Amino acid sequence: MSQRALRFPFAPLTVIALVGALFGASAPAGADDNPCTASRFEFKEVEKACKEGGRVAAKKMMNAVVKKAKEAGEQMNCKTCHNDVKDKFDLKANANADFKRWL
Ligand code: HEC
Repeated sequence: MSQRALRFPFAPLTVIALVGALFGASAPAGADDNPCTASRFEFKEVEKACKEGGRVAAKKMMNAVVKKAKEAGEQMNCKTCHNDVKDKFDLKANANADFKRWL
């Protein structure tokens, strides 16, 4: 009687390498999705928000400024400081000075 012994090679390292390749490539969501357009910032706080969370974070911050001003009885909205509030968010002449007051 003859007995055939089959040995299957087991390669756990191959499995680990495959799993690593699958999950290693995922990038975290963040400022890349909707980045700010400004390349130079007047305010460090805005620069930080833009770098960390793009326009979403910048808008959150802007909302806080508007809220603060309103609570103090000042009429203010995005258009007080921005000519365009959809795309470019370009600033009016008063923007920096007013922003500084309420930051
Ligand atoms: C008191 C003035 C003021 C008000 C009100 C204001 N902003 Fe701003 N905003 C600024 C200034 C100043 C900057 C540029 C900051 C800098 O240069 O560091 C800016 C920058 C931004 C940016 C980044 C633009 C980019 O892509 O580079 C966004 C987005 C923005 N504001 C949205 C808003 C929205 C939305 C509102 C209304 C909720 C708002 N802002 C209200 C002054 C204001």
